[in-house]
Amino acid sequence: MRQSGEKRVVSGMRPTGPLHLGHYFGVLKNWVKFQEEYTCFFFVADWHALTSEYAEPHGIKPFVAELVKDWLASGLDPEKAVIFQQSQIKEHAELNLLLSMITPLGWLERNPTYKEIRQELISKDLNTHGFLGYPVLQAADILIYLPDFVPVGHDQLPQLELTREIARRFNHLYGDLFVEPQAKLTVSAKLPGLDGRKMSKSYGNCIYLGDEPEALRPKVMSMLTDTKRMRRKDPGDPETCNLFPYHLLVTPETDREEIRRKCTLAEWGCVDCKELMLGRLEEFLTPLRDRRRQYDNPEIIREILHTGNKKAVEEAAVIMERVREKLGFNF
Ligand code: TRP
Repeated sequence: MRQSGEKRVVSGMRPTGPLHLGHYFGVLKNWVKFQEEYTCFFFVADWHALTSEYAEPHGIKPFVAELVKDWLASGLDPEKAVIFQQSQIKEHAELNLLLSMITPLGWLERNPTYKEIRQELISKDLNTHGFLGYPVLQAADILIYLPDFVPVGHDQLPQLELTREIARRFNHLYGDLFVEPQAKLTVSAKLPGLDGRKMSKSYGNCIYLGDEPEALRPKVMSMLTDTKRMRRKDPGDPETCNLFPYHLLVTPETDREEIRRKCTLAEWGCVDCKELMLGRLEEFLTPLRDRRRQYDNPEIIREILHTGNKKAVEEAAVIMERVREKLGFNF
């Protein structure tokens, strides 16, 4: 049970593919910090993955363990954070059902993420109840742990606002129970993909956290740099270069002035700059690879999830019992 003064964080990720550097610097790095400061509940949102992958549910399973491995490699510690799997906590589904009764359709239809993804993913038929109701399930995932904060990016703010609205409506109809969680906005440097577009699996322009050196080198060497720098003797501009944001993340600040100078005065070429960045990236990825190896055993992952699921269900069951009491559905 919750200790007095304890602050809680809840967040989840859909298991739809391996994580890349954008995930690390945009999300995971913060999670790793939060586990030192708060009681954290981090879950694999496998039911959420089903909203778009319902036609091939078996494709989701392999990514569940892989996602957890990416988390552990990044430094999440199962001794510090509760790491669990959404579909194993049936209370999320029960709360989703009850919250769906009180959520006006208009709130869901107006959700900008809903409109956007439906347009983006035209290859899939997302004309389903489950997809429209995604934010209700998300509200259930969050509210059931009574968290103070939910780490989200800017694009997820409208979804979190819906969670807060649903909490308010529940409390208004049935009496106070849920807290309205605050967004913990992640301010992260934008990291472009290898080709300068947003780093995304669907563009095939990612550096994955699990990339081995053999895969990494050709990726870095093929990176787009400053497109206006045509020849080695042309001066470059780090501000418009695609490589420089990587230096901002993996190269110590003290070295960056020199990189800037060598680029803008054409003292070195982009290949030299890439070699340096590759070395730093390797230094960054080495401890991740070492940790990943420690966890490279399906039994260990299963055990971690099993333990996390047990802790999560203990919390969720208590709140669900209070929810049932509020509605007069307790036995
Ligand atoms: N919507 C999130 C995503 O697409 C995943 C998610 C599901 C989530 N439930 C959540 C995130 C609750 C934060 C809190 O990645």
